[in-house]
Amino acid sequence: MTSKVNRQSTGLGAQVNGVRSQKRLAFSSLWILCITACSEPPLAEEVIFPRHDAPLPELVTKIAFGSCADQKKKHIIWEPIVDQSPDLFLFLGDNVYADTEDPGEFREAYRLLGEKPGYLKLIDSTPVLAVWDDHDYGVNDGGAEFPGKEMAEEIYHEFFTTPEDALIRSYPGIYDARYFGSDGTKLQVIMLDTRYFRGPLVPLPQRATHGPYAPNNDPTATILGEAQWKWLEAELKKPADLRIIMSSIQFLPQDHLWERWENFPHERKRLLSLLKNSETGPVIFVSGDRHMGEIMALSTSDPLSPGFPIYEITSSGLTNAGGGRKGEPNRHRLSPVNFQSRNFGLISIDWIKKSLLFELRDVEGNVVDSYTAAFSEPSE
Ligand SMILES: [Fe+2]
Repeated sequence: MTSKVNRQSTGLGAQVNGVRSQKRLAFSSLWILCITACSEPPLAEEVIFPRHDAPLPELVTKIAFGSCADQKKKHIIWEPIVDQSPDLFLFLGDNVYADTEDPGEFREAYRLLGEKPGYLKLIDSTPVLAVWDDHDYGVNDGGAEFPGKEMAEEIYHEFFTTPEDALIRSYPGIYDARYFGSDGTKLQVIMLDTRYFRGPLVPLPQRATHGPYAPNNDPTATILGEAQWKWLEAELKKPADLRIIMSSIQFLPQDHLWERWENFPHERKRLLSLLKNSETGPVIFVSGDRHMGEIMALSTSDPLSPGFPIYEITSSGLTNAGGGRKGEPNRHRLSPVNFQSRNFGLISIDWIKKSLLFELRDVEGNVVDSYTAAFSEPSE
């Protein structure tokens, strides 16, 4: 394993390289060193994170993804993910469970993730694209009202090694996009921020069997916020043969009442209309959050179908599973499987045959659900 260590604050000097992962230093050990070596104590926020700097591939044919990784639990799922040799890993939120406004506690959560041997193995070989969900944003089911959001954003950039001059650091929120491939193999990966700008959820007076939230029908209530909508509109005009949209919360489901796009029905409708009007062609949503896994498609007979395939694969979680309810209804689910144990997702793309293989795999790497689809065939 190569050594990659990233120091983000400046209190104790420039970047440290060449330290093996097992010896990564955190605030506590720096403090012990400084008792004898420094005249001033280190800054409280001083934490060294592993570097996320595996180079992005030119062509993508295999993508792994997952969500919900509690840093305090055992992480045994990274090995089977690495065994798949994916070109990319999409981290779909709840990447740590920070749930705090305290920057020291926030960094500590990421530090614990950054010392997991399996995760270090992954980032040595595989580029990671990450969005956040509520727990790594800082508050359960949180949105725009969260006072710690700027702090959370700064620490997100520290951990995922966002370059200092990256455009994403110049605007609020963590939405971004990446492109891979060329003519006939062009893949666009869109990373949505479903937290920073999100309006209020509307709780039911009493939690129902399948969740606690009613739809918020206030047309001014938003998930993405206007700046992100404008950016997304421009992104979707760019040519691509296939698009993957990372959304921490589920996009298609309409039959449960947990967090989902359907909590803001006009926002879900707006995105489907935007895909249709932009004539984007096939889109695959990948989502997390729910502590279970399922594979879905929007039927072409759905009144909001854009007329080309819209798929969604939810993979949750890497360490936290068992969510949802047995028998939870979902009109968009493609198979009877509603997998409630730890899992990760895989998308394999055959650019010549224009076909897609979606898989959910368990903690041992075994396939527990799969679906083969074509780029051009609208789902039934
Ligand atoms: Fe979540």
